[in-house]
Amino acid sequence: MAITKVKGLKGEITVPGDKSISHRGVMFGAISEGITELNGFLDGADCRSTISCFREMGIDISQNNDHVIIHGKGLHGLKAPKNMLDVGNSGTTTRLISGILAGQPFISSLNGDESIQKRPMGRIITPLTEMGAHIRSIKDNGCAPLEIGGRSLHNISYNSPVASAQVKSCVLLAGLYADGVTSVTEPVISRNHTELMLSGFGANVKASGLTASISGFPKLEGQKIQVPGDISSAAYFIVAGLICPNADLLIKNVNTNSTRAGIIKVAQEMGGNIELINERIISGEPVADIHVTTSDLHGIEISGDIIPTLIDELPVIAVMAANATGKTTIKDAAELKVKESDRIATVTENLSNMGCDITPTEDGMIINGGKPLHGTIVNTYLDHRIAMSFAVAGLVADGETSFDNESCCCISYPDFFQTISAIKS
Ligand code: S3P
Repeated sequence: MAITKVKGLKGEITVPGDKSISHRGVMFGAISEGITELNGFLDGADCRSTISCFREMGIDISQNNDHVIIHGKGLHGLKAPKNMLDVGNSGTTTRLISGILAGQPFISSLNGDESIQKRPMGRIITPLTEMGAHIRSIKDNGCAPLEIGGRSLHNISYNSPVASAQVKSCVLLAGLYADGVTSVTEPVISRNHTELMLSGFGANVKASGLTASISGFPKLEGQKIQVPGDISSAAYFIVAGLICPNADLLIKNVNTNSTRAGIIKVAQEMGGNIELINERIISGEPVADIHVTTSDLHGIEISGDIIPTLIDELPVIAVMAANATGKTTIKDAAELKVKESDRIATVTENLSNMGCDITPTEDGMIINGGKPLHGTIVNTYLDHRIAMSFAVAGLVADGETSFDNESCCCISYPDFFQTISAIKS
């Protein structure tokens, strides 16, 4: 696939279903009683990994593209898997399922691809061990493969050193299998889909400031959920619509939960023409259509509490900053180093290769925007968000932008390049 500079970008699009909500829908449905029906499910490789793990544990799940039906068996209905669970490339599957597995009477093990085997699992091993769980990094390096389960749990009040919804959700899910109230306090609030959705399934979840808590052994009941579009996927088109010439895009049906929507604030602060239309609530989540048009952008500082609300969007925000006049400083984002790739390094390498003035820092990057970009062969490191962010950069770069391997887009956005083709002129 090669991307070249566009003359304009026009159209109405919908983006695939929210990845975080799709994963959770399958997991929570599996441990609830009765049927859970998901419409708008993200039919991407990561969420398929979640489905296959629960099928391995005896849950009947039928999938027809974005329509998924889960025949839940309740909190105690999972069967010991015969094989090692395969989480693929998915950090969300790994960390959330570990919370559920910690509460099972059987021992299971899980593993994933090369990237997963480098991602830090100490952050879940510590609180789960504190709850009395058996959980072990099989190679003793703090990463997957992991072996989990077979002991009973007790509740804890956990002070998480990182703002991570995956850690928070892991502990809350383990808390379903512990007597009393389990709570997690974070340094900064992270995405709250687990709290919103689990309470919809019937759990007693409370969220107050930086603390979320859950009571053990609830009766969870299957739900019908409409999964909204993923703002992390909409982000590529938000940025494309702001930086490309003659652009006018309407991105329909996007989840705008405030714990996820930092990119909207950043785009506004940088001078972007971006408006939310038709704001509404669907299945307990705020949803809107997002309208963007070509804008004159300027650099800003992005740091502090906003970072967890746009953590997955920082690669494409860096592309936006490269196309804004003046300096953009991204701070407090050391978590970027432990995503599907080290995104401080992979963003810096590729933006530099395109001619941008960018300096990596310990917890972010400094971008002096406004220099014209030129095409390159993008080194994706098989990171879906790197591939798609640099496809967006290619829409404004001179010459041709191609990829060492763009198949990784299937993780979260299988039709990404078709959508680009449909809107460009
Ligand atoms: C996610 C949480 C975030 C995010 C990831 C999805 C989730 O990870 O980067 O893509 O669904 O809970 P962290 O919890 O590690 O920040």
